[in-house]
Amino acid sequence: MTIEATDRVTPLFNRLESGVRSYSRNFPKLFNKAVGATIYDAKGVPHTDFLAGCSSLNYGHNDPDMKRALLDYISQDGISQGLDMFTDAKAQFLTRFEALILKPRGMDYRVQFTGPTGANAVEAAMKLARKVTGRTNVIAFTNGFHGVTLGALAATGNSKHRGGGGIPLSGVTRVAFDGYFGPDINTADLLDQQLADPSSGIDAPAAIIVETVQGEGGLNAASATWLRQIEAIARAHGALFIVDDIQAGCGRTGGFFSFEGMGLSPDIVTLAKSISGMGLPMALTMIKPEHDIWTPAEHNGTFRGNNHAFVTARAALDKFWATDAFATEVAAKADVLADRLGRIAAAHGLHLRGRGMMLGVDAGSGESAAAVCAACFEQGLIIETSGSHGEVVKVLAPLTIKEAQFRNGLDTLEAAFAAVLGSRRIAAE
Ligand SMILES: Cc1ncc(COP(=O)(O)O)c(C=O)c1O
Repeated sequence: MTIEATDRVTPLFNRLESGVRSYSRNFPKLFNKAVGATIYDAKGVPHTDFLAGCSSLNYGHNDPDMKRALLDYISQDGISQGLDMFTDAKAQFLTRFEALILKPRGMDYRVQFTGPTGANAVEAAMKLARKVTGRTNVIAFTNGFHGVTLGALAATGNSKHRGGGGIPLSGVTRVAFDGYFGPDINTADLLDQQLADPSSGIDAPAAIIVETVQGEGGLNAASATWLRQIEAIARAHGALFIVDDIQAGCGRTGGFFSFEGMGLSPDIVTLAKSISGMGLPMALTMIKPEHDIWTPAEHNGTFRGNNHAFVTARAALDKFWATDAFATEVAAKADVLADRLGRIAAAHGLHLRGRGMMLGVDAGSGESAAAVCAACFEQGLIIETSGSHGEVVKVLAPLTIKEAQFRNGLDTLEAAFAAVLGSRRIAAE
């Protein structure tokens, strides 16, 4: 890669920033401006963003209406940090969340504002399930990713992340996700059998936590039938059913929630990433009222009151979720994506992974996927990998991306696959 801006700034980051940084290794440029689906580097070179802050920028960068709402709020000296006190910004967010998201879907939940990361929402969900049931064990799935704080990390499958924990990760039993053993084995049946057997070695669970589409774990999409069965198993065995919608929610897979239309009724839902609309830190744990047995401050955190995020979150709900128009638009883009990625997969004998605007191509190996992403970056497209071996090239474009830019980005991706896999085939022949 020849990147002049990098040559200037890399020594600074190498010297002062921890080696834990990761995205900047794949995209080693200095970025300083972003609008919609475009990120500009310090030289003003535009890059199309197919990463979208790992789905925390579903509505693109600097949406003008959210930006205006935030600027107005700040210029009126609106409260920025409110702990968990009542504020107008929080009241407005809750009012709109109830009117535009919960009520139309017939959902009855209380909203817990947790510390502002997804992991914190997951910690709250797992702690609450343990408190409600008086049990400790949580069932999580192969390739699941729920964050890297110790409680959430125990539910996360990835061995590299788990290794960073530094202590034994306990309180979680891992079982196979939908399709883990291939199409002929129903892993929900296996779980049911294990939970029904007092000698299976799996302790009675407090909760079953699941992503409907595993975002970090390789875009494995569970079927609605399997998810319904998992929920039924949770109910039958006295466990709470938790859907972690941190990456697949907020429109990424079509509806506001990833499980809409599936006939599911989770006890707890976690949301973060795009809930604030504009990339500001904010996370929620949605709790069925009968399970909201927290006592005051039992789970807390200083930054539960990011009122700037409440302002942009409210603006996002009003702009994108007051009618069905946005979800319809996202569904149309998802069709384009499936068509174009399907073409790439067919050309190279590969497979698609995922659902909705959370779709990718299994490049066959982490090495190939990384080479495809690197080739894309050289052409000004930012895109990342996912999966146990980083083998899936994962498209997470902003849902608001304009069609022409979307198609151009997909052209770049197609060319990168051809350059990498075409040339490898030739090399192999
Ligand atoms: C499904 C899921 N849950 C939890 C998390 C953790 O969120 P955060 O990185 O904000 O802690 C992520 C992050 O990628 C995620 O994809």
